[in-house]
Amino acid sequence: MKIFVTRLIPGMIQKIMTDAGHEIEIWQEERALESGELIAKCQQAEALLCISQPLNADFFLQCPNLRVVATNSVGYDHIDVAKATELGIPIGNTPGVLSKATGDTAFLLMQMVARKALFWHKQILDDNWGFAQPFENLGIDLQGKTLGIFGLGRIGIELAKSAQGAFDMPLIYHNRNKNEEAEKTLGARYVGFEELLEQSDVLSVHANLNNENKGIFDLNVFSKMKREAIFINTARGALHQEDDLLKALQDGIIAGAGLDVTNPEPMKADHPLLSLKNTAILPHIGSATAETRKAMLSLSAYNILAGLEGKPLPECVNPEVYQKNQQHAV
Ligand code: DGY
Repeated sequence: MKIFVTRLIPGMIQKIMTDAGHEIEIWQEERALESGELIAKCQQAEALLCISQPLNADFFLQCPNLRVVATNSVGYDHIDVAKATELGIPIGNTPGVLSKATGDTAFLLMQMVARKALFWHKQILDDNWGFAQPFENLGIDLQGKTLGIFGLGRIGIELAKSAQGAFDMPLIYHNRNKNEEAEKTLGARYVGFEELLEQSDVLSVHANLNNENKGIFDLNVFSKMKREAIFINTARGALHQEDDLLKALQDGIIAGAGLDVTNPEPMKADHPLLSLKNTAILPHIGSATAETRKAMLSLSAYNILAGLEGKPLPECVNPEVYQKNQQHAV
């Protein structure tokens, strides 16, 4: 069967699919496909390995041969999952294998902001590594500070483990449901949203984006945080209001921000957030290590194989599709 892949992938990942007898077509151009181009490719395909491409209802309606889609990400807010489910198409994703790398990115950003690392780096680039006053542009110690996590799951747990190991940071969190594992193993304490804002010295966002939390981190919310607090977002840019974040940083409402995700992406080079002393911004590289990307692509390939064989996907975001397909069969 035919599998379409939206970005270049290593030979060893291609082999997982070709060894099973499938044919692969890989998008070779150094640009994302337009929606019409993607539809044209997928009208002839039974499977799609989707890397950084939004998939809306129209896409699914116009690609009647698709039997499975694997997104090479844990997040799936770029996909109309409800429409895929309605049409009986299972969607695979890649949870777990990227938790450590993404948690490490949040840990990295937290330290970069706390120590104003990018500001100091820029001083060297600007040929300003000269005379310095001992009390200018100082960082913040993280030792013993409170880490607050909004959306504590596997990624947040990895950040918390590193933060506790390195800086003994007590952990509070706010979730829809309590995380018993984190409470037991990391001494995490569940708090209401307001208390999370008031108590966190570093507030790191790890929630899935949904209609309820879209834009939740706005000026009103930043105003309830400590003036010394650092805001970190490695989840989705749409969880924060970027203009409000800029104002909160410029007016000293919070102390700093580290972002691996922006709204929109890509961020423009002249964005004012990039020139502040108290920010660190990365271009959505949370999972971008060789080991993690290999593990993600391998899981995506096995999601595709299972889907083409009519078996449950190893990681499926819409398992209710199987009940639906069974109902159809009856
Ligand atoms: C994910 O896996 O969801 C990453 O953020 C890449 O989109």
